[in-house]
Amino acid sequence: MSEKNFAIEVKNLTKKFNDFVAVDNISFQVKKGEIFAFLGPNGAGKSTTIKNLTTIQEPTSGEIFVNEFNCQTQEEEVRKSFGIIFQDQSLDEDLTAYENLNYHAILYKVKNKEKKILELLEFVGLMDRKDDFVRNFSGGMKRRVEIARGLLHEPKILFLDEPTIGLDVQTKNFLWKHVKKLNKEKNITVFLTTHNMEEAEAVANRVGIIDHGKILIIGTPREIKEKTGAKNLEEAFLKLTGEEIRSERVDQMDRMRRHKPR
Ligand SMILES: Nc1ncnc2c1ncn2[C@@H]1O[C@H](COP(=O)(O)OP(=O)(O)OP(=O)(O)O)[C@@H](O)[C@H]1O
Ligand SMILES: [Mg+2]
Repeated sequence: MSEKNFAIEVKNLTKKFNDFVAVDNISFQVKKGEIFAFLGPNGAGKSTTIKNLTTIQEPTSGEIFVNEFNCQTQEEEVRKSFGIIFQDQSLDEDLTAYENLNYHAILYKVKNKEKKILELLEFVGLMDRKDDFVRNFSGGMKRRVEIARGLLHEPKILFLDEPTIGLDVQTKNFLWKHVKKLNKEKNITVFLTTHNMEEAEAVANRVGIIDHGKILIIGTPREIKEKTGAKNLEEAFLKLTGEEIRSERVDQMDRMRRHKPR
């Protein structure tokens, strides 16, 4: 069973890919209404954790509760209770902005879908481009369509995996302002990853830092700075994770390329 005040509860989660341990026996909780930033170097295990929390992947071992639903036995309920913005772009480029949202609304059986789609397109400032093909949109505009789509079924939790990657300063500001607004006005819990420590420090109530699949520290930005004796979150992050550049992602991509049938 999961406690009522937790939006996310992770107990001893391990995710292996063959012999490689991507997430190594991690446990943590995110309270309802919190903005939680999950930080770590490339290949640390952030996206893998999100994929397990959102039922895209199955854990090797451990238990996960999202909105008090068990990710292994109540997948359907879990899926209905969150919205997600992926690290990689995931729109259908051959559909218009409106059609992309409409497709999602049908999948999720959203009631009053037309009204909600138009409201959200207005919200992300794309009303005048609603009938244009997404393939002609800039990166930032595509991101805004994804944000609108993530909110369409009124989720209680929003997962944002590097949502500001490639965005200009204006769109970044827009995104964080609205994430904060959603959190405040609709009490939506937010679980995010970013490589931008300033962003994390500005927006998150609590931060967890993961490296090599293990959680190194969890606390408010202030607690983490105090514990590490750092003047800001970036300094604390470097003290905890070291200065060495990670090659995991490159290695992995190389391996996948080598194994890809031609
Ligand atoms: N499907 C997979 N098969 C094999 N290995 C994988 C798979 N997915 C991820 N990994 C490996 O697991 C590790 C963690 O990857 P993950 O994508 O979770 O990292 P991340 O923290 O999100 O990194 P980034 O900041 O680069 O997005 C990496 O070493 C990665 O290569
Ligand atoms: Mg990632």
